[in-house]
Amino acid sequence: QKEGYRFFMEKEIYEQSIVVSDCMLGRIKDSEINFDEIDPSILDGINEIKICACGTSYHAGLTSSYLFERLSKIKCSIEVASEFRYKEPLLTTDTLFIVISQSGETADTLEALKMAKSAGLKTLVICNVDNSSMTRVADYTILTRAGIEKGVASTKAFSTQTVVLWMLSLYFAKQRNTISSSKLQEEINTLREVPLALKVYENIHEKAKRLSKRYLHGHGFFFIGRDVFYPLALEGALKLKEISYLHAEGYPAGEMKHGPIALADPELFTIALMPKNMLYDKIKSNVEELSARDSTICAISSQDFELADDFIKINDANHYMLEFFEMLIALQLLSMEISIRLKNDVDMPRNLAKSVTVE
Ligand code: F6R
Repeated sequence: QKEGYRFFMEKEIYEQSIVVSDCMLGRIKDSEINFDEIDPSILDGINEIKICACGTSYHAGLTSSYLFERLSKIKCSIEVASEFRYKEPLLTTDTLFIVISQSGETADTLEALKMAKSAGLKTLVICNVDNSSMTRVADYTILTRAGIEKGVASTKAFSTQTVVLWMLSLYFAKQRNTISSSKLQEEINTLREVPLALKVYENIHEKAKRLSKRYLHGHGFFFIGRDVFYPLALEGALKLKEISYLHAEGYPAGEMKHGPIALADPELFTIALMPKNMLYDKIKSNVEELSARDSTICAISSQDFELADDFIKINDANHYMLEFFEMLIALQLLSMEISIRLKNDVDMPRNLAKSVTVE
């Protein structure tokens, strides 16, 4: 079933380019985004979006919180489901409650959904498993169509969730009239390029393999990024932790100087997400500060960066979300290759289960 790949995770990384096309199928029509599964009146009476999820799904949600505010101009907040449940949250019925889950069974996310529903909120689940518990509770379901994900470390679930959420933010933007038709067309054209951005290029995979030789000796990793590249940094760090058991932290690049930069030394590896199309100069100066304090820098970018000790060069693109998906592939491959070199079980990392049905 691994079809020649060494691990399911590897197969699933390579599949992303294809499943993401399934995920968009019928939902992008010429110059419009369309979701048959939701009622066009879903936003009636809604002033706010609240998202709840766990783990990787939380990272997709955090990414989308930038897009809902930037594109749809709807106030959006997000919480880790296990925190949300016990904080006695104030819920108002002008809030659209979105949960995100690959399995549709994660206990904390399911309970958060039930809480929101019983408080009378409109609820929507973005899920990979049809007829799962969450799809039975939520008012609306959007399926990600990623196919079965076997690797415990989530890969294609994340990319498809992110694409669904990006499309949804455009769908809402159109409804709310917060996007011009030319900008919408531009975004749709960019969405069509996502399958190509998610392709695994031989040179990137080779580079990840080569870097893994030295990186497995790192005594700590910081993954840094800004804007949507901050949740992507969190996701890169989570992947590395899960399957390589190395200590890694994702951080907003601008926050490093407020404490964590004290850790900088040559044994600290900084994986810097440096997109050309999003705050490039800002992230560049954050990385320069770390380099000046002797952290070993691995830049992931399409732009040459002379201070980088190592470099993963992604294809040039003209939209930050395309850079996002290209970097995602590089991050997934890097963690997988380090894990393989450490002789870990990539698909079944210690202490983890695919679906967390206990709180
Ligand atoms: C990370 C991972 C977990 C899940 C989390 C939520 O690779 O697999 O962090 O993302 O347990 O699971 P779902 O999305 O099924 O609710």
